[in-house]
Amino acid sequence: MQGIFISMEGPDGSGKSTQITLLKDYLEGLGYETLVTREPGGTVISEHIRTIILNKEYTEMGYMTEALLYAAARAQLVTEVIAPALKAGKAIISDRFIDSSAVYQGMARGLGVDNVYQINSFATQGIMPDITFHLDLPAKVGLARAKGRAALDRMELESTAFHERVAQGYRDLAALDRNRIHTIDATASIEEIHARIVQLMDQYFKSKQD
Ligand code: TMP
Repeated sequence: MQGIFISMEGPDGSGKSTQITLLKDYLEGLGYETLVTREPGGTVISEHIRTIILNKEYTEMGYMTEALLYAAARAQLVTEVIAPALKAGKAIISDRFIDSSAVYQGMARGLGVDNVYQINSFATQGIMPDITFHLDLPAKVGLARAKGRAALDRMELESTAFHERVAQGYRDLAALDRNRIHTIDATASIEEIHARIVQLMDQYFKSKQD
């Protein structure tokens, strides 16, 4: 089997984890050995970097530092987990990847998408997801869900305006790459969202056979 790299993207509280669990079961049903990971995180080193990035005490963190730390966590994940898994023919589902940096740092922080891609092309060795699902929902809905779940981290504590730029940023980014990034209405039910993801996966596999 050929390896496949899938990323799940969207604002905080968009329901990515639930959909990842369902997608994993679906891929395993197709016979894929499936690995789930998350960003920032997924390796011992990347998880350590995550605790630094998301520590709400670090209010002095500069945007450039933030972007580079996300890229550093990503570089370790790619080297240690994603590249070897792809080589071994596994399916990998990542809860966030490079598009999160493009949107949160490039757009919402205002660093510029091109600058962020430049840093990240070094970190990812050019590895990009084969297919990306963008769970789209209004920023306020996502934040309310995140608030109900656990104590908010440094990013979640950002202003509503910041999270609105994130939600819109994803829509704009998806519009630039409709072949890879599929926008799904995340206000729909869990079952409806999963059904749409399965439909898009089937289309993807079919396009690979043609
Ligand atoms: P999570 O809560 O979905 O695990 O993600 C952690 C936070 O980090 C979330 O608010 C999104 C943010 N983030 C970025 O700003 N840039 C990135 O490159 C990644 C991967 C996440």
